[in-house]
Amino acid sequence: MERIERLLNSNRRWAEELKADDPQFFERLSESQSPELLWIGCSDSRISPTSSIGLLPGEMFVHRNVANLVNHSDMNCLAVMQFAIEVLKVEHVIVCGHYGCGGVKAAFDDARYGLVDNWLRYIQDTMHKHQAALEKLPDYETRLDRLCELNVIEQVISVGETTIVQDAWDRGQTLYLHGWIYRIGEGIYRDMKITVRSLDELNAMRTATYKPAETRPAGSVPA
Ligand code: CO
Repeated sequence: MERIERLLNSNRRWAEELKADDPQFFERLSESQSPELLWIGCSDSRISPTSSIGLLPGEMFVHRNVANLVNHSDMNCLAVMQFAIEVLKVEHVIVCGHYGCGGVKAAFDDARYGLVDNWLRYIQDTMHKHQAALEKLPDYETRLDRLCELNVIEQVISVGETTIVQDAWDRGQTLYLHGWIYRIGEGIYRDMKITVRSLDELNAMRTATYKPAETRPAGSVPA
């Protein structure tokens, strides 16, 4: 219980510090939100999306799950996306994965953790889809890193394939989809340079992703 008490104390200090800089900060925040970004990332405790990219409360709408997956029957993720895109009108969706992702590793190793294995099954689909390219890579670590990257690419494609995003593009709404990857050991995000802002760009990116690995430098992501 002492640990929980410390959390509440630390929260009061955090709020005081923000108010010292900007006395009306929380009052203003309570009236409305207008974030420009939607973040779809892994639930991993070692990643703090908002603070690690220098944003304050109110600046980013966030959805997180194990291994940052976007699938079209996940009502939770779809509801977040629909609200963020249609109501809040965010201009950017960032799908962020990370190297060393436990979810990706479990899928890659075909490990058994229980119910979560069913969720991670989608990563095995990605793995099978890219099996030939993965097998050409020299070792386990490189393959696992690449699968973490491929998982981000597949999820960006998955975001772009939702009716929510396609309707937004049809309406002429400005909406960029980005793929980022984080290295926990460095604390640094890398833009995978797969940003798309239309269905045509999404289709071109998808074609590039499915190019045989030998047409790209090893470990690279499509530009
Ligand atoms: Co993870």
